[in-house]
Amino acid sequence: MKRRGDQIVMVTAYDAPAARLADEAGIDLILVGDSAGKRVLGYGTTLPVTMDEMMVLVGAVCRGARRPLVIADLPFGSYHLSDEQAVSNSIRFVKEAGASAVKLEGAGPMLQRVRAIVDAGISVMGHIGFTPQSAAVLGDMEAQDHTAVQARRLYDDALDLQAAGCFSMVLDIVPSRVAARITETLRIPTIGIGSGPGCDGQLLVWHDLLGMNPGRVPRFVKHYADVAGEMRRGLAGFASEVRSGAYPAEGHSYVIGDAEFRLFDDELSQPSAAD
Ligand code: KIV
Repeated sequence: MKRRGDQIVMVTAYDAPAARLADEAGIDLILVGDSAGKRVLGYGTTLPVTMDEMMVLVGAVCRGARRPLVIADLPFGSYHLSDEQAVSNSIRFVKEAGASAVKLEGAGPMLQRVRAIVDAGISVMGHIGFTPQSAAVLGDMEAQDHTAVQARRLYDDALDLQAAGCFSMVLDIVPSRVAARITETLRIPTIGIGSGPGCDGQLLVWHDLLGMNPGRVPRFVKHYADVAGEMRRGLAGFASEVRSGAYPAEGHSYVIGDAEFRLFDDELSQPSAAD
């Protein structure tokens, strides 16, 4: 797709129905991101998300998606300790949950993790720029400095990750012109999130793009639907009809014939086996 100049479309998803919808919509790549921590598991950050939690979500997405490539996000602490830990958790994602590839954050010391996982035969997507697992060090995602020195570091990191064997890379809140330059230079495709139109593809988080995020959304997010509004309307409608007695109506109920009901009544007049 990069060679043809076709834009690659990627979304996050965390369950089978969402994966099925993404597949039907012709989405190319699904990331089962550790953004699940905030979006579906109720944590304040991505940091508490565990491998076991991710395994459930990745398995569900893999069962729902047939065509898109499913990429499992290695959560914080699941690849930091050693190459062995990184390889073993990547194998779990691929072998037990059915993922096609894994993603990890950062370059520098993480390059050897990428090499180790690729050597084990598993495809790795890189992730540079704003890396949410390091938010405690980096600070607010939209308040990042954009200096020439940082741009150069990102550029070098991108080349290093490609050399280490990544098949693709997320550029997360990288200034547009820097992202475009990295994209022109790399052989592998870049997927931008908040990184402008010069990337090989674009990624948005499920809840953000569908208007299901109750919190503050960063400025690069565009809402393509108001799913939370629809859900609120549906839930309020259900509550109001249950309370008024309008639901369930006759058509929503199941019937037993008169004769069978009479027999049932007769049964009730007999002592039960327990008596
Ligand atoms: O966890 C996630 O969804 C991510 C994307 C924001 C890149 O890592």
